[in-house]
Amino acid sequence: MKIAVFSTSQYDEDFLSQHNTGHQIIFFKVSLSEDSAVLAAGCEAICIFVNDILNKQVLDKLQQSGLKLVVLRCAGFNNVDVQYATQLQIPVLRVPAYSPEAVAEHAMALILTLNRKTHKAYNRVREGNFSLEKLMGINLYQRKVAVIGTGNIGQAFCRILKGFGCHIKAHDPFPSVEMKELGVEYGSLDDTLKDADVISLHCPLTVDTQYLINEHCLKVIKPGAMLINTSRGGLIDTKAVIAALKSGVIGSLGLDVYEQESDFFFHDCSELIIQDEQLSQLISFPNVLITGHQGFLTQEAMTEIAKVTFDNINAFQAGSPLLNRIEIKG
Ligand code: NAI
Repeated sequence: MKIAVFSTSQYDEDFLSQHNTGHQIIFFKVSLSEDSAVLAAGCEAICIFVNDILNKQVLDKLQQSGLKLVVLRCAGFNNVDVQYATQLQIPVLRVPAYSPEAVAEHAMALILTLNRKTHKAYNRVREGNFSLEKLMGINLYQRKVAVIGTGNIGQAFCRILKGFGCHIKAHDPFPSVEMKELGVEYGSLDDTLKDADVISLHCPLTVDTQYLINEHCLKVIKPGAMLINTSRGGLIDTKAVIAALKSGVIGSLGLDVYEQESDFFFHDCSELIIQDEQLSQLISFPNVLITGHQGFLTQEAMTEIAKVTFDNINAFQAGSPLLNRIEIKG
């Protein structure tokens, strides 16, 4: 099959080439958009990632140029109009759970770094400054952590928290029996947020979860709480969160995702003036730590992504059941 792969970095090319089961792959560093869709002309499949845009207009263009299949190299699909693709009879397949631990461990890395300020200590020590002023953290042991969304990643995260001896409260419309057995206590969103020392988001971005963290719930949370988002930027109302950081309602913020990330993340913008005022502001805060959507970036996750992507393509080609097809409910 001839496959156009968009938004590639060197690691995508390496892992996909290594696990290719005989397809003709064309790598494009650019993201998929209305402008770049023409690059996939003549390809039966496209392989896309989190910031590629696959809306009605792009789907129309691609269908006219021969598109039969969409494979995502990720779990989240908020950037794809799956309903319209289904209408066009173009299946959209994803990699539902390549390595939940990769993202869960990254969430914990953000928490540990923000809490114990190892990023600041690293810089200080390199300059011969061994002062401990302003480096104090808290024990995570017996602290309360709110986990919003206990699917694959949320559950992996809860297991890590258990090892740290944290009290875990969670909110999910579909509570997990296994997590309850682990000692996770489920409640409403407000109840889960209200006395948490750390809040970590692990639910998908949907119409219902857009701005889940908004002005209202920032009134509910315990002043000084740490907020972590490794899920999708749109879960957070950035303006409201910046105000909460300024007033001290949020004590610290760790982000691996950002609402307008597609203009910056995965690119080297070090020689550019960042034109996004909110992002510039967040980067300047001493209690904010931002990583550029790297939660998935482990060897294990990349191997699984490549393998499942080719399994998905091969199943489509063979006319086998499409186990990882995204189905539209309702
Ligand atoms: P999943 O589908 O296994 O779990 C999502 C959970 O969220 C489900 O249990 C669902 O019931 C729950 N949920 C849905 N609506 C909710 C709401 N309103 N409040 C609370 N919970 C709600 O998904 P998985 O694999 O755990 O991934 C979660 C998200 O993580 C993905 O949607 C994606 O956005 C993000 N992600 C980020 C990565 C990164 O590199 N930073 C990599 C992979 C995924």
